[in-house]
Amino acid sequence: MHIPARFPVPLRRSALLLALTALAWALAAPCQQAPIQLPKPQIGAGMPLMQALAKRQTTRAFEDKPLPLQTLSNLLWAAFGVNRPRDVKPGLGRTAPSAMNKQEVELDVVLADGVYVYEAEPNLLRPFLLGDVRAKISPAPAAGAAVTIVYVAAAKDDFAQVDVGFIGQNVYLFAASEGLNAWFYTVHAPDVAATLKLSAEKHALYAQSVGYPPK
Ligand SMILES: Cc1cc2nc3c(=O)[nH]c(=O)nc-3n(C[C@H](O)[C@H](O)[C@H](O)COP(=O)(O)O)c2cc1C
Repeated sequence: MHIPARFPVPLRRSALLLALTALAWALAAPCQQAPIQLPKPQIGAGMPLMQALAKRQTTRAFEDKPLPLQTLSNLLWAAFGVNRPRDVKPGLGRTAPSAMNKQEVELDVVLADGVYVYEAEPNLLRPFLLGDVRAKISPAPAAGAAVTIVYVAAAKDDFAQVDVGFIGQNVYLFAASEGLNAWFYTVHAPDVAATLKLSAEKHALYAQSVGYPPK
């Protein structure tokens, strides 16, 4: 930063300090973008379960095209949405089971414009990183996928791997039912954690990409 020499040295130092403080604050500040309120999931959508099971498969190719917001909402609800309110199930009932109902797996949703945390009860996506980081998270075949869910849990949670398995199968079945491609894969946890700026206690377990088949 250039501060003209005609200003006295103490003033120039203060201006520089102020600018550096503002920069540090901007880098550390949480993402200011507003959350995306997802539309109500369409419980009547999709094909019968047995047909979806017949179509479930891993397909490692995607068109770079976003999903409609409604489809994204349906996908996340199928993955790990709230299916029973608190007065029916203390601590909330979800579409996937979790050990001791701890519901500790966090779904970090990577879209073309940024990364969001899925908050199931208010049914929204809370942004925490702006920009397209898809190629840093996913291997090349999925770098253009509409959605990649990174499954994040506490590093010491022994049950998290099992919990993720249930969620991942929900995603596979939803994708099959919608004619979308899906791929569940292992991630290089330190790289993904660095890209997502995860705190030290959080661990990226797996990722799963979903999107349109290539044309
Ligand atoms: C825990 C787990 C880890 C996986 N990791 C990878 C992976 O790192 N790379 C990959 O290409 N596929 C990965 N897969 C997908 C499997 O290779 C795939 O499910 C398997 O080949 C069977 O194919 P299908 O899903 O079409 O039935 C993984 C699946 C699971 C359940």
